[in-house]
Amino acid sequence: MFKFLVLFMFVVVSLTIASGTVPTFKLNDGRDMPGFGLGTSLGLKKDNNRDLKKNEIENAVKWAIDAGYKHIDTAFVYDTEDKVGSAINKKVAEGVVKREDLFVTTKLWNDAHARDAVVPTLRKSLENLNLDYVDLYLIHWPIAQYRNGTFYDVDYLETWEGMIEAKKLGLAKSIGVSNFNQQMLERLISKSSVKPAVLQVEINLNVQQPELREYCRQQNIVVTAYTPFGSIFPNKARSDAPPPRVDDPTLVQIANKYNKTVPQIVLRYLVELNVIPIPKTVTKSRVEQNIDIFDFELTREEKDLFRGYDKNYRTIDYKAAIDSPYYPFEKN
Ligand SMILES: NC(=O)c1ccc[n+]([C@@H]2O[C@H](COP(=O)([O-])OP(=O)(O)OC[C@H]3O[C@@H](n4cnc5c(N)ncnc54)[C@H](OP(=O)(O)O)[C@@H]3O)[C@@H](O)[C@H]2O)c1
Ligand SMILES: *[C@@H]1O[C@H](CO)[C@@H](O)[C@H](O)[C@H]1NC(C)=O
Ligand SMILES: *[C@@H]1O[C@H](CO)[C@@H](O)[C@H](O)[C@H]1NC(C)=O
Repeated sequence: MFKFLVLFMFVVVSLTIASGTVPTFKLNDGRDMPGFGLGTSLGLKKDNNRDLKKNEIENAVKWAIDAGYKHIDTAFVYDTEDKVGSAINKKVAEGVVKREDLFVTTKLWNDAHARDAVVPTLRKSLENLNLDYVDLYLIHWPIAQYRNGTFYDVDYLETWEGMIEAKKLGLAKSIGVSNFNQQMLERLISKSSVKPAVLQVEINLNVQQPELREYCRQQNIVVTAYTPFGSIFPNKARSDAPPPRVDDPTLVQIANKYNKTVPQIVLRYLVELNVIPIPKTVTKSRVEQNIDIFDFELTREEKDLFRGYDKNYRTIDYKAAIDSPYYPFEKN
């Protein structure tokens, strides 16, 4: 009997793994969210190559849709909504994918936190995207701040009321927040009628956020992991960033065992933490490689090793906003 049970479980688990499909998360508002997405941020600094880079984003989104991505992450402030939208509209027109099978996220920037600014700002994003609705609209930061850096006094509770209006109007199917800490989530949940469906925060090997993830699990809030590679690439890592790097011998050995790359096993670890990674790449082979992580599973020992890399180290600490009353992170 026991043998049969073990065999049965083996078959079930193998089927789930071998199917190689991206999992779907059920949101607390009843909608579905694909468990893997493409990031589209080019960083916030404007440079002369901006137009060239934006075209790379359009290509990346097209390659992603061809490779089976259903979920694309952008933001007003990235200045990529137009290219994300044109790629999506082209792929929908080609019949490669239906709009309703895609999940598009964008975000409200800090300079539009007044309640009455939210819906008009979302309409601008939709115009950029050339779409009728987004699947998810996020408050990008809890911080109200003009483009010139000056903070202004709008409580994110007020901003959230504008987000609720956007949802009621059907302009955003789901609403959520980004870069909120647990106290802010608790306050938001206790003071408003609609719970955020999603929290998007930095999660990677160096900042794994176990308490925040556990809180979100209890509250039925789905967690998206931004900057999923953290500091594994030497050209992106600050000198004070904790290990590991992509050439770490132990990681290379584990990757080889599964015939995967180190970036792939890092993304796989995030999937096993039950969060939704949104890696950004404008390189075709990497677009395809990054989503090819749903046909294997890490062992308990490997996950224990990965857990040990958590040093609560952020690559995005937004210290420039440390004087805002709504700064969400540790101040030291
Ligand atoms: N809510 C927020 O405040 C917030 C903050 C940051 C990010 N985000 C979102 O999260 C997304 C991802 O974060 P991120 O862009 O900061 O960083 P990331 O996805 O962790 O890393 C992107 C970098 O990794 C490289 N890369 C990707 N896949 C690779 C692979 N398989 N092998 C080698 N190199 C690879 C990319 O290079 P190439 O592109 O040159 O291939 C790029 O330089 C963003 O694009 C954005 O959508 C949100
Ligand atoms: C920053 O921008 C705001 C809004 O545009 C403006 O009212 C304020 O005077 C500016 N502050 C500085 C220091 O430029
Ligand atoms: C290893 O992975 C590569 C790239 O995905 C693939 O082409 C190759 O067939 C794989 N080899 C084995 C033995 O599975």
